[in-house]
Amino acid sequence: MADAVRDSYDARAREYTLLNLGDLDRVPLDREWLGAFARLASPAAGPVADLGCGPGHVVGHLAELGVKAIGYDVSPAMIDEARRAFPASTFRIGDLTGLDLADSSLAGIVARYSLIHLAPPRLTDVFGEWLRVLAPRAPVLVSFFAASCPARHGLPFDHAVTTAHELFPETLVGEMRGVGFDGFEVSTRKPLDGERPLDHATILARRGGS
Ligand SMILES: C[S@@+](CC[C@H](N)C(=O)[O-])C[C@H]1O[C@@H](n2cnc3c(N)ncnc32)[C@H](O)[C@@H]1O
Repeated sequence: MADAVRDSYDARAREYTLLNLGDLDRVPLDREWLGAFARLASPAAGPVADLGCGPGHVVGHLAELGVKAIGYDVSPAMIDEARRAFPASTFRIGDLTGLDLADSSLAGIVARYSLIHLAPPRLTDVFGEWLRVLAPRAPVLVSFFAASCPARHGLPFDHAVTTAHELFPETLVGEMRGVGFDGFEVSTRKPLDGERPLDHATILARRGGS
């Protein structure tokens, strides 16, 4: 699955970048969530990671907020785009399902529209891996296309690059709570003009522990 996702994004990295690099300018709500995330991330705990960073605009935005962020993506071509767009920031090829990072070494995780490409039954294990690498009380911020009811959780939708799935926010909250996250805040928004006809959801949570 990761190979197919990597190859698909490699083939369309330039196109994706041209379309999405200015994404945060169009969606003030996403900037607000990133601001809330940044306020919770303790610099003493290490860098934050943007998992599935694409062209790197979230890493660039976090840098503007004074947060040291490292972008990881499975697509080397996407990492090239990110390095070109944000040469002062750090980007690495990496798979969000298994991170080559020490326990408790991250001050936070952002994953914006990257979990949608995983087979949904894998998500609990992924959240467990994220719990491992996060410092206690570190924030996690996840955005995705929202399923409108539990029965639609995991249904594929028509995505321009590769297979992607609707995810039901409360199902994800339950899986995250089950592995040890707490402090959940969940929001959804309607699609903007020109966006696909699915709601967008964001979950902000904290790693449990002290
Ligand atoms: C829809 S794009 C989102 C990019 C960026 N986060 C944004 O907000 O525009 C999904 C990104 O996640 C990456 N991705 C998908 N599965 C991944 C995985 N298992 N590990 C790392 N990156 C992954 C893709 O290569 C792609 O760059």
